[in-house]
Amino acid sequence: MTRAFLNLDPKDMLASGKQRAVYLHPFDDSKLVKVLLTQADTEGRSKFSLFLERWLPSTRDRQIRKEYLEYLRLMLSNQGAQFRPPITHMFGFVSTQLGLGCLTERVQSSKGVLGDTLFDLIEQGRLTQEHVEMLNDTVARLYELNIRASDLTARNFVFGRRQTADGLGPKECVLVDGFGDIHAVPVRTMANWANRMGLDDSMKRLCRNKPIAWDQTQRRFSYIGRD
Ligand SMILES: Nc1ncnc2c1ncn2[C@@H]1O[C@H](COP(=O)(O)OP(=O)(O)O)[C@@H](O)[C@H]1O
Ligand SMILES: [Mg+2]
Repeated sequence: MTRAFLNLDPKDMLASGKQRAVYLHPFDDSKLVKVLLTQADTEGRSKFSLFLERWLPSTRDRQIRKEYLEYLRLMLSNQGAQFRPPITHMFGFVSTQLGLGCLTERVQSSKGVLGDTLFDLIEQGRLTQEHVEMLNDTVARLYELNIRASDLTARNFVFGRRQTADGLGPKECVLVDGFGDIHAVPVRTMANWANRMGLDDSMKRLCRNKPIAWDQTQRRFSYIGRD
């Protein structure tokens, strides 16, 4: 069933990033609704990005537009039913009493409503070799599919399962945010080699101060544990 308007229960807010609050979908448990936070809610963002948004509200819209463009590009060039994208599916928009909601799929863990992020696992000392293998599988697909990504942070990689036509899918790592080429000069979109260089940089940054190391020649992370 599709509805153009959803009433979200504030109790169903599961997580919140710097830009969006994440709610459980009121009647479809395979989905989440991401609502854009208003400026007042966006604590912890740099003064510069708040300034930009006040004077150029289109910067935030632009980010969402780029995210969707990347999703469209990916899905149009991989139309097979078996295709499992390394990023979350995006199902369009819905109005809510809290603002515009972006419908997306839920990555769930066996215990929690949402899967753990790479950030959570590292913070809580629960990262294992198995997680690093799942991360590497996703990273390999990001390169293979030439996904444009601008914000590969540990909070944007979520481990868990997604709903498929045959029930819950395999345990995997999914990039839930931060894809799309938001750069003013979109060299990453113009050339695949430029995108691969950008991804290399992001991977190096991602492992900084974390118990994983980036091997540039293999384009893989390895688990190095804690000192
Ligand atoms: N599809 C998803 N499945 C599971 N958890 C998610 C999903 N999308 C987001 N999250 C959780 O919500 C947090 C914030 O969502 P995100 O889309 O990254 O918002 P922001 O744009 O504000 O960074 C993430 O760090 C993650 O913990
Ligand atoms: Mg995020």
